[in-house]
Amino acid sequence: MTVIKTKNLTKSFSNDLLKQDVLKQISIEINEGDFAGIVGPSGSGKTTLLYCLSSLEKITSGTIIFNNKDITKYTDKEIANLRKTELGFIFQFYNLIPNLTVYENVLLAKILANKQEDDIVDMLETVGMSEYKDYYPNQLSGGMQQRVAIARALINQPKIIFADEPTGNLDQKSGSEIMTLLKKLNQEKKVTIVLVTHNEEYLTYCSKVYRLLDGRVV
Ligand SMILES: Nc1ncnc2c1ncn2[C@@H]1O[C@H](COP(=O)(O)OP(=O)(O)OP(=O)(O)O)[C@@H](O)[C@H]1O
Ligand SMILES: [Mg+2]
Repeated sequence: MTVIKTKNLTKSFSNDLLKQDVLKQISIEINEGDFAGIVGPSGSGKTTLLYCLSSLEKITSGTIIFNNKDITKYTDKEIANLRKTELGFIFQFYNLIPNLTVYENVLLAKILANKQEDDIVDMLETVGMSEYKDYYPNQLSGGMQQRVAIARALINQPKIIFADEPTGNLDQKSGSEIMTLLKKLNQEKKVTIVLVTHNEEYLTYCSKVYRLLDGRVV
């Protein structure tokens, strides 16, 4: 089943002086259970594509079908709701809240989605962080913080997870561990993942790969 699909998606940024076409006629399809990779040189539009797919950026033209609905027609409120409940995000710099504990960081995602506080410790267990539930982010290594961010992304059982260079700030070993965890979640829990990466080695983890060059899929 298709989770998200774009047809002729374009995105341009413009100011008074110039218009830059960053994404050009992108048509891609992510199916349930996919571990899709997006690769390409710096500036090719990877992050912009991820932001468009997840409605963090408005697109210029084309369509995005999520769960059989054209979300480009959604109101801001519908989009906000979609993001809280159906989409998960993992960023390069973790984006944990420094004055909340590991447990509370994950709990906050639940509260924002109006869900019950029941399975947080189980989720922390899944990512190997339950022992650290009362720690604060600055007491953890980068790899550990990213595990917490993964737990936070998964806690509301989103239909899809978007990860933008999740290993970009980690050393080789922690990076591979995070990739192994993502692969395990993909295979065992059937989590659908879209991963942006610079690291060609990690493409072996992916079930399909889109290569971006100057805003086009090649
Ligand atoms: N908010 C914005 N306003 C104007 N231009 C932007 C904006 N966001 C991105 N761009 C431009 O879009 C192009 C693609 O940027 P993007 O961040 O998507 O690339 P990327 O492939 O993720 O690169 P990197 O690998 O370095 O993260 C760049 O030329 C960038 O300057
Ligand atoms: Mg980027």
